[in-house]
Amino acid sequence: MADLIHRPRRLRRNEAIRSLVRETRLAAEDFVLPFFACPGEGVRKEISSMPGVHNLSVDEIAKEAAAAYELGIKSVILFGLPEAKDEHASGAFDENGIVQRAVRAIRQAAPGLLIMTDTCLCEYTSHGHCGMIRDGEVVNDESLALLARTAVSQAAAGADVVAPSAMMDGQVGAIREALDAEGFEQVAIMAYAVKYASGFYGPFREAADSSPAFGDRRAYQMDAANAREAIREAELDYIEGADILMVKPAVVYLDILKMVREEFDVPVAAYHVSGEYAMIKAAAQKGWLDEERVMLETLTSIKRAGADIILTYYAREAVRALKS
Ligand code: PBG
Repeated sequence: MADLIHRPRRLRRNEAIRSLVRETRLAAEDFVLPFFACPGEGVRKEISSMPGVHNLSVDEIAKEAAAAYELGIKSVILFGLPEAKDEHASGAFDENGIVQRAVRAIRQAAPGLLIMTDTCLCEYTSHGHCGMIRDGEVVNDESLALLARTAVSQAAAGADVVAPSAMMDGQVGAIREALDAEGFEQVAIMAYAVKYASGFYGPFREAADSSPAFGDRRAYQMDAANAREAIREAELDYIEGADILMVKPAVVYLDILKMVREEFDVPVAAYHVSGEYAMIKAAAQKGWLDEERVMLETLTSIKRAGADIILTYYAREAVRALKS
């Protein structure tokens, strides 16, 4: 076969040439590292279904955030486990709430770090749903005011980006309006625009203690079978003023991520969720696959599909692997 003109293998002969022609490169700047803030002091409680991820008290988060920044991580996102939960999620918008305190502590400990806050009610409601309940249903419009209040309190604490994840219709618009009315027009919104009702959130619900007490989230999160609907959801958030559109989960929705990337001109984020992390961890612990290799391959696939921003519990390990 001496007459073969095109030989793709020429560009694969060694690492130098492979890296020269590589189309997708991961960088520390791509990642957003999640933190789970919990009450107390000196608390580091590992999540059993997420090895390497902890519930951290505010003082510990400040230390971890500074260390992550030192390592090269540029952004973090905060979730909160409040001291008490109630029907109205009052812990979500308390100016001294767990996330609001964590924001202030991180700002002190690592002033250069970009701080994002998850804006949702499920961690703060006694019933574990992302909105208010009336007659056994999660009601939309009453929930908007609470979400807007939560976003404003997070901005007041110093969050740079708020990330509404409740999947209530109109939440981005309600939050944008409330932020602007309070003088936070510079605070950006990263919308969990395309969020599926997914079994891959299981370990997160252990980490955030946010499992719904009854029913599930299918009446507000998207049906896994729907792709065209993703464009409609993303478009609504775009029109309502989302600065960044997110697709979640990431890996089993790469087709959706690619579509959203192609349709919209704003930055697109993807959330490599808890179950996606846990699966790799578990298989690696059994010695069934090479964790570092699978981690980097997974994160590369998310970026290749179109993500500009990747939220992942692997952020630190990925940055370390990229450095070595
Ligand atoms: C809050 C929220 C969830 C996740 C992010 N924000 C859980 C849910 O919707 O049940 C999941 C993140 C993960 O699984 O890593 N609504």
